[in-house]
Amino acid sequence: MVLKDVFKRPLLDLRISVTDRCNMRCRYCMPREHFDKNHVYLPKSDILSFEEIVRVVEALLPAGLRKVRLTGGEPLIRKDLHKLIRQLRELSPELDIALTTNAHLLSKSIQRLKQAGLSRITVSLDAIDVDVYQAMGDTTSTPDSIIESIDKTLALGIPVKVNTVIQKGINENQVMPLISQMGSRNVPIRFIEYMDVGATNSWNLEHVVTGEELRHKIGKEFGSIQPIKPDHPSDVARTYCTDSGYVIGFIESISKPFCGDCSRARLSANGSIFTCLFATEGFDLRGILRMNASKNELSTAISAIWGQRKDRYSETRSEKTNLKRIEMSFIGG
Ligand code: GTP
Ligand code: 5AD
Ligand code: SF4
Ligand code: SF4
Repeated sequence: MVLKDVFKRPLLDLRISVTDRCNMRCRYCMPREHFDKNHVYLPKSDILSFEEIVRVVEALLPAGLRKVRLTGGEPLIRKDLHKLIRQLRELSPELDIALTTNAHLLSKSIQRLKQAGLSRITVSLDAIDVDVYQAMGDTTSTPDSIIESIDKTLALGIPVKVNTVIQKGINENQVMPLISQMGSRNVPIRFIEYMDVGATNSWNLEHVVTGEELRHKIGKEFGSIQPIKPDHPSDVARTYCTDSGYVIGFIESISKPFCGDCSRARLSANGSIFTCLFATEGFDLRGILRMNASKNELSTAISAIWGQRKDRYSETRSEKTNLKRIEMSFIGG
């Protein structure tokens, strides 16, 4: 039986955060002055084991779950992630198992991830220019090394997409070089409007570059771009194609919210279900997982949570300026 929330939206996608830690310090996500040595990360005992994660997914499959996305923090920091992927793949050959990563550790793990049954990868890459990349990510690694990992992944036959968060005056000048580099590799690139997630990134509407503004600029450079029909109504990106066949997506959560078809639940690394990226509180599942809840008990608990879901934060954002916001690195993007 397919689960439906108050607005009749099904639960189709589960975004699973496997760790709240990251090896980058993107200024818009984990600014170093807040995520320094005094920051308290989740203790190991609070973090769901692979077996516990697998039990949650298993309970949701009969309810229509079609996609899981492993996120973080940085998911490849979690030891033996391929073992989780293998266990998820054993549950279902059809399940879409995706991974969102900054790719620093991708090159050395990609072969294992493929063998374990990973379906596809999304790489976060905010710039081609080394100085811009290092400033935004507060990192010493280079975009060249990330592109090498993308090429290695493609060579193994694993589909790749790239995500780029655009911030006004910071990396707007990276849009065209990124399109050229990714388009020539047949890698779809998605430009994300900078979102007001978390409480540490000092988000301000003035830092946002809208998808519309970008489409206008891209049209001038690459000629007219044509919309592509979405694969599924709940897709977050509106996708376009240039004359030369480059695929470009826009994730316009600020200027064109897409809550109406939102079918995503989030499972935090410590086992809480969040029914919205901007939810202020999660529903604890770890408690019942550790009381050895059966598959039916878990699916009943999740049905109850989803059944009362009314979230549509992006559509009502302007009314909610004083919310206590959960960090993106915790809730898993
Ligand atoms: P695909 O299956 O490849 O379409 O993946 P995806 O776009 O769902 O996942 P990805 O991790 O690549 O997310 C892209 C961006 O969209 C990230 O910045 C996410 O935070 C954002 N995003 C994903 N889901 C939601 C959502 O439900 N609401 C909002 N506001 N943003 C979202
Ligand atoms: N706004 C928009 N996207 C963000 N991401 C992280 N923080 C933000 C934010 N404040 C992106 C990452 C990654 C994806 C999961 O979310 O760059 O690609
Ligand atoms: Fe890490 Fe991704 Fe956040 Fe950057 S955006 S700090 S790579 S979790
Ligand atoms: Fe879904 Fe919340 Fe994002 Fe709207 S803001 S699309 S309800 S996660």
